[in-house]
Amino acid sequence: MSARIPMLDLAAEYADVGAEVEAAVLRVLRSGQYVLGPETAALEAEIATLVGTRFCVGVGSGTEALILVLRALGVGPGDEVVTTGFTYFATVEAILWCGARPVFADIERDSFNLDPRAVEKAIGPRTRAILPVHLFGRCADMEAISRVAEASRIPVVEDAAQAIGAVRDGKNAGAWGRAGCFSFYPSKNLGAAGDAGCVTTNDESLAERVRLLRAHGCQQRDYHRELGTTSRLDSVQAAVLRAKLPRLAAWSAARARVARHYTEALREIGGILLPSSGPNEVAVWNQYSIRCLDPEPVRRALEAAGVEWRHYYPIPAYRQAALGEARLPAGALPEVEAACREVLSLPMHPSLHEDAIAEVARIVRGALSRS
Ligand SMILES: Cc1ncc(COP(=O)(O)O)c(C=O)c1O
Repeated sequence: MSARIPMLDLAAEYADVGAEVEAAVLRVLRSGQYVLGPETAALEAEIATLVGTRFCVGVGSGTEALILVLRALGVGPGDEVVTTGFTYFATVEAILWCGARPVFADIERDSFNLDPRAVEKAIGPRTRAILPVHLFGRCADMEAISRVAEASRIPVVEDAAQAIGAVRDGKNAGAWGRAGCFSFYPSKNLGAAGDAGCVTTNDESLAERVRLLRAHGCQQRDYHRELGTTSRLDSVQAAVLRAKLPRLAAWSAARARVARHYTEALREIGGILLPSSGPNEVAVWNQYSIRCLDPEPVRRALEAAGVEWRHYYPIPAYRQAALGEARLPAGALPEVEAACREVLSLPMHPSLHEDAIAEVARIVRGALSRS
């Protein structure tokens, strides 16, 4: 049964932009050029302009963007990459795929993002990259993280999968580090009709290297300079994204409006911590994630009322079985563990109506007053 108030509403998005998307897809289908080509090149130029970097390279997914950047930076076995313990597992997967060891640092309570002081402590002689994540659409404290990175001469790779268009201290997510990695998975603020991603950078040689790696290490047909893979951005996906891109600013503004309404409606309720964004930031609200000391009754009440919710993320990234011997013990990072226990993401999309927001708030208030 579909939820009365769903987490996201891709049908509403399609109603808004479907005609443009269909025309764009037909254009590609009729062109006979399905991989890379002019659509992908045009999208790369448009994303580079949006993010404010010199280069953008389209790849197969956000995960591939991370893997290819780390590989292009020479990260491999014996190396360490400092990252957050509170993220979607793909961040960590990318480090593991390169054969490197993730070193986990704790997060800030209010932003869910990496704590720059914890990053500083996690750096060691084998650290080859720092990998902050801009979680839920809010940019990490990149000024502080960049200071730490510069002092140690370690490149920063931003996982900006959830944060296209987010700004902090005048600079976009994806423009701070040596490279930014974006996902265009359909549930992202700018979503393709399938898997897609990209890398943003000001570093020409890094952009070239990622271009090489995404297409079998091959610059000239039949000559493979190094071991690459198939991770090119399809022309159809590029065309879909280009059709949606002109709407992104309005969609982000609508998400911010939804967040403001939630915050007004939930402000007076005791026992919860609401997400915020600082005066020096523009958040893009991929999620509206609250914290409650005991979220279980709230989850149950939402469920009973047909309101979707998500638990992003129930398990610290460093507790996942896929880490094998690199797995850390329970309790390793207190703020990460508290976030995993307390976080609750509410429905969030640009067309979420004020009445629905008021109803969600009423259910949250009711559940907390009974618990
Ligand atoms: C923080 C984060 N990093 C990486 C990824 C991976 O992106 P993709 O699903 O496009 O591979 C995601 C996507 O869900 C994500 O949320």
